[in-house]
Amino acid sequence: MKQYDILTVGDLCADLVLMGEDLVPGFGQEEKLIDGYALRMGGSCSIFACQAAKLGMRVGIVGVVGDDAFGQIVLDTLEKSGVDISLVKIDPNIETGLSVHLQEPGDRSILTHLGSIEAAKPEDVSEDMLHSTRHLHIGSYFLLEQMQLAFSSMAKEVKRAGGTVSLDTNWDPEERWGHGLADLLKSVDVFLPNENELQAITKMDNLTDGLRRLKEVIPVVAVKLGDEGGLVQQGNEVWKAIVPEVRIVDTIGAGDSFDAGFLAGFLGGLPVDGSLAMGCACGTASVTAAGGTAGQPRKAELNKWLEQIQVSCVKRS
Ligand SMILES: Nc1ncnc2c1ncn2[C@@H]1O[C@H](COP(=O)(O)OP(=O)(O)O)[C@@H](O)[C@H]1O
Ligand SMILES: [Mg+2]
Repeated sequence: MKQYDILTVGDLCADLVLMGEDLVPGFGQEEKLIDGYALRMGGSCSIFACQAAKLGMRVGIVGVVGDDAFGQIVLDTLEKSGVDISLVKIDPNIETGLSVHLQEPGDRSILTHLGSIEAAKPEDVSEDMLHSTRHLHIGSYFLLEQMQLAFSSMAKEVKRAGGTVSLDTNWDPEERWGHGLADLLKSVDVFLPNENELQAITKMDNLTDGLRRLKEVIPVVAVKLGDEGGLVQQGNEVWKAIVPEVRIVDTIGAGDSFDAGFLAGFLGGLPVDGSLAMGCACGTASVTAAGGTAGQPRKAELNKWLEQIQVSCVKRS
């Protein structure tokens, strides 16, 4: 049996979420009082890894943190969620990345220092690691700059060893959607964009045409639609999930928790409609607590969320 169900390469960092009605800084040494804060592990792949481990997947993460307090938060959170942290390097020469989220009701602004976020290098991922996993999940494609051009050959290696590959690019800050992405997409079994990312990557101005374009290239495409839930395309079938209305604390990491829920279903042998329900259950649960991981359900809590998700087939031809 392979050592891991899922291996991922992490954009490891901390998130400091500041909460209040008016968080626009006043320069000229103005001091404003705010309502509260949360200091949590951040990073798309690390939030993903925690949710997958909470659902019982054996998850390994490759990445780097600094030898500092924020790095410790990352390691503690991963470990408490059940993620194997033996592949994470502690580098005293870099600072752990930090995102400061200014979370006002209904909107958010983010200030990020990359630090360890972009520190993972292709040589940190050995061939043995790639052979030791059933599945490789690639997230934050455009932030992991040193890794980008290696991901395609890593994906091919995992597949040669009988594994599968998923990709959630997240948004491209340069909005070029290049850097070897087209080549990588040919090796992807499960693609997990949100609606805007799908349209940008396919260069289509609507979801239906974007999905049609991807149908020939990628076996399973699961699209995240925020408070409208999500959908999944496999061959000629499209399934749609509707999610309940919930009280939102913040939406940090909702898409990453969705990815983990979907893949825990998929790798556990569920059909794509059941996997979609798992993705939406985890995404929706995650928005009900501060930061990316606090709201993530463990296996025993999942049913409570699954009961509230409705999935139906919207296209079969
Ligand atoms: N406002 C919301 N209410 C309920 N569920 C939500 C909300 N926002 C996100 N979700 C859940 O989280 C999932 C992923 O969120 P989304 O914002 O679409 O992803 P991303 O963060 O990648 O853009 C959605 O499919 C949904 O299940
Ligand atoms: Mg996302």
